[in-house]
Amino acid sequence: PLTAQVNQADHLEVGGCDVVDLLQKFDSPLYILDEDTLRTACRQYRESFIKYYPGESQVIYASKAWNCLAVCAIVASEGLGIDIVSGGELYTALQAGVDSTHLYLHGNNKSREELEFAADSGCTIVVDNWLELKTLAEISNEQHSSPSTLRPPHSALPIRVMIRLTPGIECHTHDYIRTGSIDSKFGFDPDQLDQVFQFLSQHSELSCVGLHAHIGSQIFELEPHHDLAAVMVQWLLKATHYGLPIAILNIGGGLGICYTESDDPPSIEAWVKTVSEAIAQACDAHQVPYPKLISEPGRSLIGSACVTAYTLGAQKVIPNVRTYWSVDGGMSDNPRPITYQSVYRAVIANRMSTPLTETITIAGKHCESGDVLIKDAKLAAAEPGDALVIPATGAYNYSMSSNYNRIPRPAAVLVNSGEANLILQRETYDDLIRQDRLPERLRQGSD
Ligand code: LLP
Repeated sequence: PLTAQVNQADHLEVGGCDVVDLLQKFDSPLYILDEDTLRTACRQYRESFIKYYPGESQVIYASKAWNCLAVCAIVASEGLGIDIVSGGELYTALQAGVDSTHLYLHGNNKSREELEFAADSGCTIVVDNWLELKTLAEISNEQHSSPSTLRPPHSALPIRVMIRLTPGIECHTHDYIRTGSIDSKFGFDPDQLDQVFQFLSQHSELSCVGLHAHIGSQIFELEPHHDLAAVMVQWLLKATHYGLPIAILNIGGGLGICYTESDDPPSIEAWVKTVSEAIAQACDAHQVPYPKLISEPGRSLIGSACVTAYTLGAQKVIPNVRTYWSVDGGMSDNPRPITYQSVYRAVIANRMSTPLTETITIAGKHCESGDVLIKDAKLAAAEPGDALVIPATGAYNYSMSSNYNRIPRPAAVLVNSGEANLILQRETYDDLIRQDRLPERLRQGSD
């Protein structure tokens, strides 16, 4: 799906830019985000919903996959809303100029400050638990009783909320990214739905507009989402018994992407078709009006749109055992292999037509044996200084990056039609100590 090709110099090109040139210009390692691939995925989601869903629909980008000003601005310009999970993500989206009515705040332990920030901004809050529901009712009452001159105009309105439920649907993915089963920290248990609806019907300071569920991430099967749709329409039916004007269902995200040749996820269109038809059929069966259908994909929007380019450094050959090549990044820019045993593949970006004769383990530069990005990659014979590129690093790489070992985070460039624009500046050593404070008595020379 990435707009990549090989140029006359036998180098990999992404978005019309030679990766070797990009490394020279912006230094290494480097996240390279292809704008066209990201925009195409946004359009595939929107157009597929228009094609297959008979009611209104909205796609919101799960920005936990990669939240920064440029990415928020791109997806918003494609007409997508944005799912945020913290005050920091909310702040970034607002700074990117995203309309707050297109923002949805998630999280299982939002602080009071985050809830107030969200309510003041006018975004929709996806309520996860009782404490939050009660806190929001309090916040809304305080807003109503205090003169609104100090508050922005949104606070005069009831706070817009949705309710997150744990649907009890199993799917095959890594345990850490499975969220829909009953044993999950997220959302209300469906057994509590009557109590929640009761509460909402007595609290007009909260305007509940919809219900939400998310079952997990990197999912290749379509059945769990089909089953989820049917369960959610049952919840909707229950809401009507309480006279609540709930007219939105948010079915979460979760569609997987290809990391290696053996991965075979459904297409965006197939996924949208499945959930759209399942919701529409369940609504027809129960004679419920079609709700506005929201989906919130992250990985399948941005995952394939980015590659990470590294420079090859030291080699270690252990005869009859393994050959390691180390790169100038690792678990700090891509923590997914060490966290989830995720499998990636790689290419030597300056030897694209050289036969893949080598079996190489790509290690990061961190002081940790588990800092291995790829085990047994099939690669062209290479030399130190060559450019190694790992595709499909758009989702949960930059957003989960760290400064482990005090390694500055890489830069990110946005490429499009041969142009490259910096969207994240490379961190410097000064950035690393910016928040450090040295108490006077510890300064060298003091006793
Ligand atoms: N909505 C909710 C409420 C979520 O929790 C998530 C992901 C999404 C939407 C987007 O799911 P996606 O379409 O990206 O699968 N760090 C892990 C993934 C964690 C996913 C967390 N929630 C990884 O690197 O695989």
